[in-house]
Amino acid sequence: MTDAYRQLLDATIAHVQGLKAASVRHLAVAPETFAALAAPVPRRREPSISTVTPINASISMPAKPAAKKTSATVSTPVSDAKAAAMADLRARVLPCMKCPHLANSRTQVVFGVGDIHAPLMFIGEAPGADEDEQGEPFIGKAGQLLTKIIEAMGLARETVYIANILKCRPDTPGQTAGNRKPTPAEMDTCKPYLLEQIRIIQPRAIVALGATATDGLLGKSEGITKLRGRWQEFHGTPLMPTYHPAYLLRNQALSEKRKVWEDMLLVMEKLAMPVSEKQRAYFLKP
Ligand code: URA
Repeated sequence: MTDAYRQLLDATIAHVQGLKAASVRHLAVAPETFAALAAPVPRRREPSISTVTPINASISMPAKPAAKKTSATVSTPVSDAKAAAMADLRARVLPCMKCPHLANSRTQVVFGVGDIHAPLMFIGEAPGADEDEQGEPFIGKAGQLLTKIIEAMGLARETVYIANILKCRPDTPGQTAGNRKPTPAEMDTCKPYLLEQIRIIQPRAIVALGATATDGLLGKSEGITKLRGRWQEFHGTPLMPTYHPAYLLRNQALSEKRKVWEDMLLVMEKLAMPVSEKQRAYFLKP
């Protein structure tokens, strides 16, 4: 049994015992969590952009030069080290108690999901109720739209990495429904975990989803309307701010969809992904 596995197991047992002590009787566990417990140090290389057939088979994203592989089934010291580092980080994040109010109210920590070798990372603000329940970021209505955007780029959701700045759902005391934005203090407390995720994954580009995530990452509040569509830098990685998919659900105007799509076209160009004429014309007026 590896140290990473032992730590993950200990953290899980401690977390479950804490829930039991708090009289929690039922637990929602994401399939991804089971998978991580079953295989914390994969012997086989995890699927990467170039080994997964994209939704649109004619469009694929070139793998990072550093992530060159000889075979989809052969593990390398680099991929094993990445998987071990991510498993170790996950084991430290799952039982986090840095924000006692959030640790108290959450169902579970929402760590992040996707390919740890991905050239592209999407970062949102915080889990909502659906994500808190299922343990995976961006699986509610906004998340389903994000998945469509990813697929429109010619990628499968599993071939990118998706995470939030805040790993716990912001509590909503006194409210029976709805979510709230994370505070700057909550984001600052949690951000070191995200920085570690980025350091492990080493994406070639990051997409920041919405004003809160953009402000939380860049530490500036110029406003998403001004920042979107303009490359920024986050700890040496190019970062593209764009509107949050939840905004597109609220504002169904073609012009707003087109703005987000233009931001994605810039990301595709940055990653040297092929862009078809059809893709280039998405959300333009007929
Ligand atoms: N909004 C976010 O910013 N993150 C999620 O995971 C879900 C909705």
